[in-house]
Amino acid sequence: MLHSAPAVPSTAPPLAPIDPVVIPQRTLSTGAKMPAIGLGTFGSDHVSPSEIAAAVVGAAAVGYRHFDCASVYGNEAEIGAAFEKILRGGITRKELWITSKLWNDKHGEDDVIASCRKSLADLRLEYLDLYLVHWPFPNFHPPGCDVSSRSPDARPYIHENYMKTWRKMEELVDLGLVRHIGTSNMTIPKLKLLLRDARIRPAVNEMELHPHFQQPELFKFVVENGMEPVGYCPIGSPGRPERDRTPEDTAPTEDRVILEIARRHRTHPAAVCIKWAVQRGQTPIPFSVHHYRENLAAAAIGDPLTEEEMRVIATIDRKCRLIKGQVFLWKDGQTWEDLWDLSGEITPP
Ligand SMILES: NC(=O)c1ccc[n+]([C@@H]2O[C@H](COP(=O)([O-])OP(=O)(O)OC[C@H]3O[C@@H](n4cnc5c(N)ncnc54)[C@H](OP(=O)(O)O)[C@@H]3O)[C@@H](O)[C@H]2O)c1
Repeated sequence: MLHSAPAVPSTAPPLAPIDPVVIPQRTLSTGAKMPAIGLGTFGSDHVSPSEIAAAVVGAAAVGYRHFDCASVYGNEAEIGAAFEKILRGGITRKELWITSKLWNDKHGEDDVIASCRKSLADLRLEYLDLYLVHWPFPNFHPPGCDVSSRSPDARPYIHENYMKTWRKMEELVDLGLVRHIGTSNMTIPKLKLLLRDARIRPAVNEMELHPHFQQPELFKFVVENGMEPVGYCPIGSPGRPERDRTPEDTAPTEDRVILEIARRHRTHPAAVCIKWAVQRGQTPIPFSVHHYRENLAAAAIGDPLTEEEMRVIATIDRKCRLIKGQVFLWKDGQTWEDLWDLSGEITPP
């Protein structure tokens, strides 16, 4: 879906900066502090790298200090120029929290460190605060592909192979190139194996989280095991690529419970999703080139949701996964559910 939203809606308040000291912080298992809201940077195949880089500069100017990047988003070089501009403007590197991710075609032992160094060079940084394994499968898709795309040598999850990748992730910490390492798109059975075998445990698990996909069991598991849940698609990803849309998908921002709470707080339903995420204890990373200031305001200032509103939102989970990952399937005849270990066991090869 292409967006035609105006750069600044006519009803928008002036873009007064929000003091970063009022942004809630998460304390990770290492004691490090991470801002409890970040700016997503995946343009969903239709927002250009230069528009996103401009949003990164604008977001830092209004108070964002946390940015969620990835090599596969195809815009790290432009975002690197944005970071350089931000740092030249007086914000210091240690005030920023910058995440990047290892793409699926770089799981090989010789590729992990090189890929991280490439992201660092593109982003014009000496270290990352957090480096994630983007998906637990080495299966990749070319940018802009459709839902039927499969990588030619697609494979299932093989824990022994994942651990070889993880050992290199640990080496990145030893080398001082990254401060924390983490996972993304994992399931409980896969995380159990990783937690058993890791020398350096994941500090974060990045996962889809919004009011229509709350993942309560995985959320609880992540928190109980000392990881921070970072929530992607916090608004329900209204601009996601065509390959990530099915007729059954629902939109949290159109849920009548969210609409009613938004009306009561005189705010946008997207702001309710952000408030819910921060108050529940996850770190949302909304993407936005037009509404980033409103999202930061929802997380950091203004009236919070009441306990009753939080309780009601907990009842509207539709178990509606939006990013199903079909392009990562490894053999014919599978459905996307096979990627997510719904039985509680890792799906057999
Ligand atoms: N680890 C992973 O595998 C993974 C997967 C998916 C995403 N992610 C990360 O998560 C980030 C967020 O996910 P996402 O981009 O798919 O979904 P999202 O943040 O839920 O939705 C972004 C969309 O919502 C719109 N929007 C944002 N704030 C709004 C507001 N206040 N009012 C109205 N519309 C608003 C944006 O439009 P405007 O730009 O016009 O404001 C954009 O189209 C990504 O950018 C990426 O960094 C990670």
